[in-house]
Amino acid sequence: ETMPRVPVLWLHGLECTCCSESFIRSSHPLAKDVILSMISLDYDDTLMAAAGHEAEDCLESVMKKHPGEYILAVEGNPPMNEDGMYCIVGGKPFVEQLRRVASKAKAVIAWGSCASWGCVQAAKPNPTQATPIHEILTDRQVIKIPGCPPIAEVMTGVITYITTFGRLPELDREGRPKMFYSQRIHDKCYRRPNYDAGQYVEHWDDEGARKGYCLYKMGCKGPVTYNACSTTGWNNGVSFPIKSGHGCIGCSEKDFWDKGPFYKH
Ligand code: SF4
Ligand code: F3S
Repeated sequence: ETMPRVPVLWLHGLECTCCSESFIRSSHPLAKDVILSMISLDYDDTLMAAAGHEAEDCLESVMKKHPGEYILAVEGNPPMNEDGMYCIVGGKPFVEQLRRVASKAKAVIAWGSCASWGCVQAAKPNPTQATPIHEILTDRQVIKIPGCPPIAEVMTGVITYITTFGRLPELDREGRPKMFYSQRIHDKCYRRPNYDAGQYVEHWDDEGARKGYCLYKMGCKGPVTYNACSTTGWNNGVSFPIKSGHGCIGCSEKDFWDKGPFYKH
């Protein structure tokens, strides 16, 4: 409580803003507690009241006042084709802003599958050359928090860890925090007993679907997807895709958008 709030600069490249939508719904801790007590969200061109030059001035002032102290959080990615012209922020290609702000950041977080892997804007043939940020910031560790979007409590959990302990959480070889990404959806799925018993949904409206059987035969990617959905849940732990009757599409995995099909029948 006595520690100064850590400045956070939250940049947006090519993305749909679903990571921000997820973040503001965090319940443990509440997003408001993170924003009002743990961090100082000094720049976020989607959420901040300031706009235009005023907003860019905030960014510059934090970089000047707190070099090596602020966290850079990146939602989305830079398109590298045509010299970055497919995503312009403050009159310049987003990739320039990304490189500049990262150069003085204490830690860099890649929010979601866009920043971590490229996501749907990088789908074949990737006309804008949308590029995950670790391929741009090659000289430093990037913490990947993949998911489309990531789970709200995973996002705030990572921020809480860094601000509380002053260090990065333990990461796996892909750069994902082990505490949230070390297990597959399948490992903790409540339909796993049905999988083990060979009880599958074979059609969307069959008896197995009504009984909540395993969705593997409908294309569920839970066995190859590392994320915390089957333990943490979504919407304050109320549900997650499989609990709503739909298989996991592997939204936190690399290339999930090109690896389909999402449905098998
Ligand atoms: Fe595994 Fe998916 Fe079946 Fe759950 S629904 S047990 S994650 S295959
Ligand atoms: Fe995504 Fe699969 Fe979780 S689709 S939200 S990783 S259950």
